[in-house]
Amino acid sequence: MRPAVYAYQSVQEQRENADTLPCAVTTPLDGSTDMSSNESLKEDVNTHFEFGENWAAYSASIDQRRILEAEAALQQFLSASDIAGRTFLDLGSGSGIHSLAALNLGAKTVTAVDIDPHSVATTRRTLEEHAGSNGYECLLGNVFDLPLDEDAKFDIVYSWGVLHHTGDMWSAIEKAIERVRPGGKLIIAIYLKTRFCGFWKAEKKLFTRAPKVLRWPIVGIYCALSLLRVLFSGKNPIKHMTEYSNYRGMSWIHDCIDWLGGYPYESASAAEITRFVENRGGKLEKSIGTTPSIGLLGAGCAEYLFRCRDAPDLSQRNEFTKTHGTHG
Ligand SMILES: C[S@@+](CC[C@H](N)C(=O)[O-])C[C@H]1O[C@@H](n2cnc3c(N)ncnc32)[C@H](O)[C@@H]1O
Repeated sequence: MRPAVYAYQSVQEQRENADTLPCAVTTPLDGSTDMSSNESLKEDVNTHFEFGENWAAYSASIDQRRILEAEAALQQFLSASDIAGRTFLDLGSGSGIHSLAALNLGAKTVTAVDIDPHSVATTRRTLEEHAGSNGYECLLGNVFDLPLDEDAKFDIVYSWGVLHHTGDMWSAIEKAIERVRPGGKLIIAIYLKTRFCGFWKAEKKLFTRAPKVLRWPIVGIYCALSLLRVLFSGKNPIKHMTEYSNYRGMSWIHDCIDWLGGYPYESASAAEITRFVENRGGKLEKSIGTTPSIGLLGAGCAEYLFRCRDAPDLSQRNEFTKTHGTHG
């Protein structure tokens, strides 16, 4: 295994050193303006929301209950025997709780990668604290230029809520597919397209650029509206917040901040994702939450499990994108 990267930098250092982060530019699939307009987003980490700080704050709340919920979330797609003895790549590991869940469920090795130094440091802390020091590595890296051997493949590639935040979702999905060994599994979660996606993309861009002092009123208003909606739907808002950890071991307030700030932002329908991955050698085995909501207060992620039947045939992609556009 490669040595783990135990990078930890202040936000200021992170911004200053952003140029040194591995951010290779990949060739647009078909040279369309749609794809090329994403290049600056892919390259310039300064334009990204600082997910890692939010994950660092969340990680203080990681306890046994959240860990069990994270394991249960993984087991919605993979049984313990599917994971035991397998190599697991967590692309965009965030807090590291799902890397930990994979280790607890018997993964042979876990490789956790994230573009944000705070996420890498948090993942490492989470794993060290709850799993000791063996069986994993935590790497600082960009999905477009992974700090892995060129031909490194994994039994399971897991990328939950990440690829739509990269600045070039379709290329990022291809990068994830490339890392699945033939016969291996790809689990991804991607925001569903709703009619409010344009509004939320603009909000996220503004939020990410805004000074922190201006962010808190936005968080306050959003949280209040979200809880009102819960109330009007006949549920108890307090219970909603306290029982939120049942959802993948997550925390309500940190997920609200993640939603408000999550920029870059893209989304896709379930049909688009399925077609896109199946045209690259995947076979959809399971999906959850693929019906979009109205999207007024958030889009929600649909989750997909694909099995890669053969080595993904990415040579087809140019032909495919010429005839069907870049969105699958
Ligand atoms: C919404 S969080 C999801 C974290 C985790 N997968 C989970 O389910 O809790 C998205 C994560 O993806 C990371 N990320 C965003 N763009 C990335 C890229 N191009 N390469 C690697 N990681 C990236 C962010 O730093 C962040 O930690």
